[in-house]
Amino acid sequence: MTSAQLAIVLGTRPEIIKLAPIIQECRRRDIAHTVVHTGQHYSPRLTEVFFEELQLPSPDHTLGVGSDTHGEQTGSMIAGIESVLLDVDPRTVLVQGDTNTTLAATIAASKLDVELAHVEAGLRSDDRQMPEEVNRIICDHTADQLFAPTTEAATNLRDEGIEADRITVTGNTVVDALQRHRRIALERNTLPEGLGDVPGEYGLVTLHRAENVDEPERFADILSGIDRVARAFDLELIYPVHPRAREVLSDLPVPDTVRPVEPLEYLDFLRLEAEARLILTDSGGVQEEACVLGVPCVTLRENTERPETIAVGANRLGGVSPERIAEAARVVLAADDEWDNPFGDGDAARRILEASAATPAREVVQ
Ligand code: UD1
Ligand code: UDP
Repeated sequence: MTSAQLAIVLGTRPEIIKLAPIIQECRRRDIAHTVVHTGQHYSPRLTEVFFEELQLPSPDHTLGVGSDTHGEQTGSMIAGIESVLLDVDPRTVLVQGDTNTTLAATIAASKLDVELAHVEAGLRSDDRQMPEEVNRIICDHTADQLFAPTTEAATNLRDEGIEADRITVTGNTVVDALQRHRRIALERNTLPEGLGDVPGEYGLVTLHRAENVDEPERFADILSGIDRVARAFDLELIYPVHPRAREVLSDLPVPDTVRPVEPLEYLDFLRLEAEARLILTDSGGVQEEACVLGVPCVTLRENTERPETIAVGANRLGGVSPERIAEAARVVLAADDEWDNPFGDGDAARRILEASAATPAREVVQ
């Protein structure tokens, strides 16, 4: 049996990006930790490239669960994570965000009565149709330590009756990652020629929410909306296609203004984000990054669990109808593009590890 203070469980692209600063900080401080990759994402462009670029060692445990129905996928992950936890015997299991990986680790940790820490706690879209909303609520109400990125997220947790002494406002590790990589991303030139060559002359699009891309009619409406934006503002729209969207997209008419490309590495994507005139997205992490980088954003959804981005004027809900998307782009592009970053100062990983270490180990009831 090996012993690690922290078992960090991840499985998707955004979890690797947002947990990388915490893993790096563990390495710097010599905190014993083990990294478990569930294999929820497995395409090299959604996994390996991020470990390489973010200079992370390969995960200590890989479960290889792959894609399946929510139940099958989550069930396999629970069994796999449980077996690793029995072997590793960590003091704390640390998870991030709201994916099925997060949910599986939450259940595995709670059944073994291992302390659970949730990074990016307290986000709420108030839309329980989203699998992510259910995942994050279950995780928040199970976790012993809740690391809220903003005071608004902490307030959501308090409003649901979670005790204040379990909550720490830390900022979002997305800022830690951006601060570390932004300059490198802008200096290096690994994008293919012709892709985002002229800053400010293109828009950047991402789409992967089940509710947007699984339904061809809705997906087609969104494409038509972003085409209107491209024509109104004379922008080419670069669209790195998430694998979830690939098949449905291949049966839809893609407007000439939209240029689908393979999913990009983090640094290439960051450079395109930083120099875009506008970002159109249904991604959570991309809404945050646009806000921190000072690039106007239209969110292609009816709601967001990142209302801070809207409050500061960086983001606007465009919904999924062509008219509303075009209108949201007009408003956000006409607005003042100076706003405050609501996601913290880039020191979230340190705060999370210090708060975690300061919490006395939980007494385990046998
Ligand atoms: C998952 C998360 C979502 C997160 C997103 C980040 C859940 C419920 N959803 O969505 O919250 O925003 O990751 O990108 O956990 N596929 C591949 N290769 C892969 C992974 C997936 O081709 O490496 C395809 C498969 O067809 C699969 C589909 O994408 O069925 C969906 O994958 P899944 O992991 O279930 O959800 P995501 O849409 O990626
Ligand atoms: N991202 C990337 N390459 C891409 C698209 C996105 O590196 O082609 C990064 C982006 O910088 C952000 C993260 O992936 O940090 C967002 O992941 P995703 O949109 O898949 O998930 P979400 O944040 O919605 O959960």
